[in-house]
Amino acid sequence: MNKNTILITGAASGIGLAAARHFHKMGYWVGMADLNLALLKDVTKPWDHARVRLFQLDVSDFTQAQNVVAEFCAEHNNSLAVLLNNAGILEIGPFEDIPIEQHQRTLSVNVIGVMNLCHAAWPYLNNNGTSTIINMSSASSDYGVPELASYSASKFAVKALTEALELEWQKYGISVCDVMPPFVATNMLKSQKNTAKVMQRLGVNITAEDVVAVIDKQVRQPKTHRTVSVFYGLLH
Ligand code: NAI
Repeated sequence: MNKNTILITGAASGIGLAAARHFHKMGYWVGMADLNLALLKDVTKPWDHARVRLFQLDVSDFTQAQNVVAEFCAEHNNSLAVLLNNAGILEIGPFEDIPIEQHQRTLSVNVIGVMNLCHAAWPYLNNNGTSTIINMSSASSDYGVPELASYSASKFAVKALTEALELEWQKYGISVCDVMPPFVATNMLKSQKNTAKVMQRLGVNITAEDVVAVIDKQVRQPKTHRTVSVFYGLLH
């Protein structure tokens, strides 16, 4: 029998942390992977760790991704029910002012990272309709946003990768979808200049927990939609 297992990247903060908390409460065995292991340990201090495993992981490194997936799945009959590719970074500013290394890093984390985890997870996915991959895209997956060039490019790519894998792996009963959050007041946005002001002006108050509610729906009814906007997901 497949156990309820979920591996979450970028789990030390924001949406990833909220997702880990939620699925842990739901009785899942949760693998929490993040670049920042110290933060991961800190935020999970009060948790019951019986069903939680913490991993240091840079998603842009394929060998690390393989090792983390293998180690987590080895404890669960070599199978993985849910992979949540959530780790992501963002740099806001004029394209020419952002060093090229930073643009490249955004693509490495946001796109290569998702590709690495999907590839590493493949041997452990169940071909009986019980495995789901959820990738975090963004409202900027559909159009290029000025001063968010590499982020927009990366999220377009995540969407294309999601669509390709969904079509390719549906014959194995593996569901692949992406969830598109709008502005959510996590560290990602709070750490950027002026975003607090923009969010206040927009008056949008979507929380990490709202996004998780939509992720949860996708896990429960994986075949419903390939791409889910959080606004739509909360309404239906
Ligand atoms: P966050 O900044 O609160 O959390 C991101 C986590 O990813 C952090 O714990 C960070 O340490 C980790 N991380 C960064 N680089 C990593 C790497 N190379 N390997 C492993 N972990 C790494 O961000 P937030 O807002 O929770 O974002 C989560 C996802 O949701 C991202 O993919 C983001 O692009 C997406 N998203 C967020 C939106 C927002 O408004 N906050 C809107 C649309 C999409």
